[in-house]
Amino acid sequence: MRVPIIAGNWKMNKTIAEARELTTAMRDDLARLAADGQIEIILCPPFLAVPEVGTLVKGTPIRVGAQNLFWETKGAFTGEVAPGMLAEVCEYVIIGHSERRQYFGESDEHVNKKLHAALANQLKPIVCVGENLAQNEAGKTGEVVGAQVRAAFAGLSDAQARGVVIAYEPIWAIGTGKAASGAGANAVIGLTIRGALADLYDEATAQAVRVQYGGSVNAKNAAEFLAQAEIDGALVGGASLVAADFVAICKAAVR
Ligand code: PGA
Repeated sequence: MRVPIIAGNWKMNKTIAEARELTTAMRDDLARLAADGQIEIILCPPFLAVPEVGTLVKGTPIRVGAQNLFWETKGAFTGEVAPGMLAEVCEYVIIGHSERRQYFGESDEHVNKKLHAALANQLKPIVCVGENLAQNEAGKTGEVVGAQVRAAFAGLSDAQARGVVIAYEPIWAIGTGKAASGAGANAVIGLTIRGALADLYDEATAQAVRVQYGGSVNAKNAAEFLAQAEIDGALVGGASLVAADFVAICKAAVR
């Protein structure tokens, strides 16, 4: 059985003081929901707030993640954060979010390098894939998402692949309030994403990897996604900034 994993992607929101406030507002409820290991809950604040959030959830089952990393270990890369630096303060890292691909020029090759770097530093990656509206309307979802998965996982061993979480986030559904349908997301994840993993590895590995849905998940629609057989959780943006909503989404993931 795959344990559902709910991650809050705070994006570029919350100062350290605000992060403290938001974390404190939901910490006890989240800790209770994650206490028996039925679900995993990850908070991904901006870099600067990662250590503070980590301190606040210390001793609870709540885990912390970053939203990006660079693949080099150290050196003259002004403004970047190395995997080893993150490994000191968090356990997870989001890689290849569509906003990074779209606004910061991240390519499939960059995503693959970041994935290798994260795993080499014992960070657990959440790698994002998803088609844009034009690709979706042109019927190219399978082709685009399949290629992203194959490129991201290039060179990863079977054991490494099993430790990666994939977030299927159709770009047209992110921050738009227009979520995919539960059945639609389930089909892409089951056929395209697990299909690509089965080609790269084998069926057992394809079934072992956890795949989240992301894109306008909220307290109302979360249950529809989380009830789907192929969907193992959610990557939540906007609704993760509202304590009561994020708690409600996590609650919907408890089976
Ligand atoms: P959203 O963002 O929930 O605000 O649509 C999801 C994401 O980008 O991870």
